[in-house]
Amino acid sequence: MAEKKDTPMTDRRPLIAGNWKMNCGAPADLALARAVASGASATSAELVVAPPFTLLAQAASELSGGPVALAAQNVHQEASGAYTGEVSASMLKAAGVQWVIIGHSERRQYFGETDDLVLAKTRAVFAAELKPMVCIGETLEERESGRTLEVVFKQLDAVAGALAEHEGVGVIAYEPVWAIGTGKVATPEQADEVHAAIRERLALTSGSLANNTRILYGGSVKPGNAVELMSCTNIDGALVGGASLNAEDFLAIATAAK
Ligand code: PGA
Repeated sequence: MAEKKDTPMTDRRPLIAGNWKMNCGAPADLALARAVASGASATSAELVVAPPFTLLAQAASELSGGPVALAAQNVHQEASGAYTGEVSASMLKAAGVQWVIIGHSERRQYFGETDDLVLAKTRAVFAAELKPMVCIGETLEERESGRTLEVVFKQLDAVAGALAEHEGVGVIAYEPVWAIGTGKVATPEQADEVHAAIRERLALTSGSLANNTRILYGGSVKPGNAVELMSCTNIDGALVGGASLNAEDFLAIATAAK
């Protein structure tokens, strides 16, 4: 049985994060981040952008003191050492980053990231006093075989203890893999059902963790579907891919978050 929730859900400030993926890597592309910052006053949502690694330090200096926070799209789980090509959480911190996206389905799918690795990365991010945005979600095959919650709970359970140690700091992004970059968006009912189940599952760790953890939706979020998605009780924001590459679209999504 889920514990009783002890604070009202309205305490969770919406968070809208833009995952640029391997796009917009020229210094001139930081105009996108600047445009987001200049439109930020139109929304009460917390705004985060995640440019490629190579732009993070410059983005940090341009966004410093402003309304838009900065995320990295990945991190290595070790603090330092002989890991050619990798970047540690403390390096991200030094570059001026506040957030790290962890366990995105593209990392799980193309780079073999397991739940254990996602946990190790989550711990590394907390250890550097950064905030993790942990992605979970089922594939189309898993959904069609009725395994959505089984898959999502397994990914969630891997990190729930670590999130509880830093309650309210980390966020979960529920991203059905079949909805990412495909234009197929989960219906608000489909999304909210899984979000509610995730929150109940977090309540098995603690009621306050369930209440204080923001659960973002991701997967083909666009200005045209954002209002409906963001009006769902258990959806606390969005992790946006494609539409985050256009400042106007990203800000329209942010404005939809109440
Ligand atoms: P999308 O990507 O909005 O392009 O579907 C979402 C994500 O991968 O985080």
